[in-house]
Amino acid sequence: MTTPADPSSGVGSDVPEPPSPPSHPLIGHTHQFFRANPLEWFTGLSESYGDVVRLRVAGQSIVLLSNPADIERVLVTNNQNYRKGSFQKLVTSSLLGNGLVLAEGDEWRAHRRGLEPAFHPDRMPGYARRIRSHTERLLNSWSSGDVIDLEEEMKRLTLRIIADALFGVDLTEDATELGTAFTRILEHFERISQTYVYLPEWIPTPENVRYRRALDTLEAAVQEIIDAHRTGEIGRRTVVSYLLENEGGWSEDEMRDEIVTLLVAGHETTALALTFTGYLLGRNPGVAGRVTSAVRGLDNDGIVDGVAECVELDRVVKESLRLYPPVYGIFREPIEDDVLGGYRIPSGSILALNQWVVHRDDRFFDQPDEFRPDRWTEEFEDSLSPGAYFPFAAGPRRCLGDRFALLEAKLILAMILREYQFELVSEVPLEVVPSLTTQPKHPIRIRLN
Ligand code: HEM
Repeated sequence: MTTPADPSSGVGSDVPEPPSPPSHPLIGHTHQFFRANPLEWFTGLSESYGDVVRLRVAGQSIVLLSNPADIERVLVTNNQNYRKGSFQKLVTSSLLGNGLVLAEGDEWRAHRRGLEPAFHPDRMPGYARRIRSHTERLLNSWSSGDVIDLEEEMKRLTLRIIADALFGVDLTEDATELGTAFTRILEHFERISQTYVYLPEWIPTPENVRYRRALDTLEAAVQEIIDAHRTGEIGRRTVVSYLLENEGGWSEDEMRDEIVTLLVAGHETTALALTFTGYLLGRNPGVAGRVTSAVRGLDNDGIVDGVAECVELDRVVKESLRLYPPVYGIFREPIEDDVLGGYRIPSGSILALNQWVVHRDDRFFDQPDEFRPDRWTEEFEDSLSPGAYFPFAAGPRRCLGDRFALLEAKLILAMILREYQFELVSEVPLEVVPSLTTQPKHPIRIRLN
């Protein structure tokens, strides 16, 4: 079936709509959507129906994209025609406000420019010192034979690091309370992602009340950060100093939104990357042995440079981000109709660009379900289509913290592996559930040897 052309969009009426699996005439794919594990279902749909698949869920048109060329067009070459989806905003704006992840247009541009200096390569050595000192403290609290919940340990560590590195605050005492608040917040999004039932937050369901309380804890911590900068209690130059000095000044709400955004975006994802990497190394002792000897051979004084140049570590992290991308999907809405993969994509539909699906596509990755870090040779990277691997997205809205994240993940991993070997205790196969990010369904328990 072909929809009538919108004469202003320049997309001809002969351009077909994307294929769509059989659906109920009234409710479309809503029923299937609610029942399935979205990650598995999307993978199956792309295998059966191709790179562009149209679904109708709760009256909304959702288009799944799994072709690198189309993904590049949306994120890079025709990015000006795409904005963040309104559903994403409806669900996450009580947390992220109008911070960088959700902002659009001139406001996004101005804020991105304002925050970029904090992520300049020159800032990385200072951040590396903080990453090292927090990781050392954690290592000192562990002993050989301990069994740890890797995700929990990594989330607490990366939260302390981001709060210290970007905002100059020591959360050692508060990391647990704030960590619990973040857990509640994520549980809220996990439930929405799994049931796709969104009850407005003013309805006082027990779940909404828990979520609001967690937000209050987070807001209080953010206010303390801003106040401590205003009163000079935190004298060091931090991201908040940039915000306070910014031309024209940023309003209190704008600062709140950016601080929360950086706290959320800046700790959870990296902790997940480390958790999945730990799991994969526990499952693959041969790879773990090779990367462990590589990092144990590094000179302690030059560890930051050593880690940056360590090929084994780089490949392990790349491969882990391929198999278990902490961000499993990116959502965009076309402003005007576009053509992707030869199909008409109407304005207002929700496009889902799934790292989870594309990173496991055997057209781009041999034996895609296997953890094979040594696939990441220079030749392989040169031959890979740009849109086939995008753990940090691409184009102007590429992750602002990618450099920080890679430095942090590699340094933490190297420091742990220099002291301990991971033994997987939980023999449950890894299952993931989509929330705001890709979450392991069960705790990943590791014995430190
Ligand atoms: C392994 C760790 C990380 C992964 C996989 C990751 C992934 C991503 C992805 C896929 C996006 C694009 C989302 C979209 O367009 O819908 C994004 C955006 C963003 N990330 Fe990250 N991220 C990571 C770590 C970090 C860190 C450490 C920070 C900050 C310290 C950070 C800050 C941001 C910000 C501010 C944006 C919004 C950028 C914009 O729209 O201009 N991320 N990230």
